[in-house]
Amino acid sequence: MSDMLVKLYDLPPLQPALDAITPLHIQIRPARVGEEYQIMPWIAQHFNESWAHGVVYAIHRSPCSLFIAVEKLPPDPERANPYVLPPEKLVGFACYDTSNRGMFGPMGVLPHYENRGIGTALLLTALHAMWNENYAYAVIGWAGPVDWYANRVDATLIPGSEPGPFRGQLEGK
Ligand SMILES: CC(C)(COP(=O)(O)OP(=O)(O)OC[C@H]1O[C@@H](n2cnc3c(N)ncnc32)[C@H](O)[C@@H]1OP(=O)(O)O)[C@@H](O)C(=O)NCCC(=O)NCCS
Repeated sequence: MSDMLVKLYDLPPLQPALDAITPLHIQIRPARVGEEYQIMPWIAQHFNESWAHGVVYAIHRSPCSLFIAVEKLPPDPERANPYVLPPEKLVGFACYDTSNRGMFGPMGVLPHYENRGIGTALLLTALHAMWNENYAYAVIGWAGPVDWYANRVDATLIPGSEPGPFRGQLEGK
């Protein structure tokens, strides 16, 4: 699969994408240190084991470059304790600067939550964060849904980028 290029100085605005998922009780936020113990096995289970490793670096990077989509579940009225926050269900993730600097991805949304705008909100949150960190362009590494990235952020295929940097495996045996 090829890589794609995104002009970060020409991104669609973020707020409408966030507003679109608010009625669904979905929020996007940076992951917190310590949450890697929930997020890594979740990514390995639902997407790809190799994707799970990069998130550790993204979580501990400063600023954090791993964003998660969480569904805010209704608070339990039985537990009226102000220190007990409403539970959150992890439904999607997006990160950057994991395999290579300046590279966006991987990302994923739980199949049951697809087609509700969560992927777009995650993508734009991460790309706007890259822009705010002074990157001018992002590379979407090994872009799977090419048309989706093209439609959402006008991403274009980078000629000759297959297999790109994802070549060769370290053998330890
Ligand atoms: C790609 C992905 C992140 C999109 O998440 P999502 O939450 O469904 O995205 P959105 O709801 O914002 O966008 C859905 C829209 O994109 C369209 N779409 C979905 N996949 C598409 C594709 N491969 N090509 C073009 N359009 C696509 C849907 O039809 C929908 O269109 P609509 O807005 O007209 O209804 C999600 O499908 C996913 O996790 N896929 C598996 C993991 C993956 O491939 N990750 C990318 C690794 S590089």
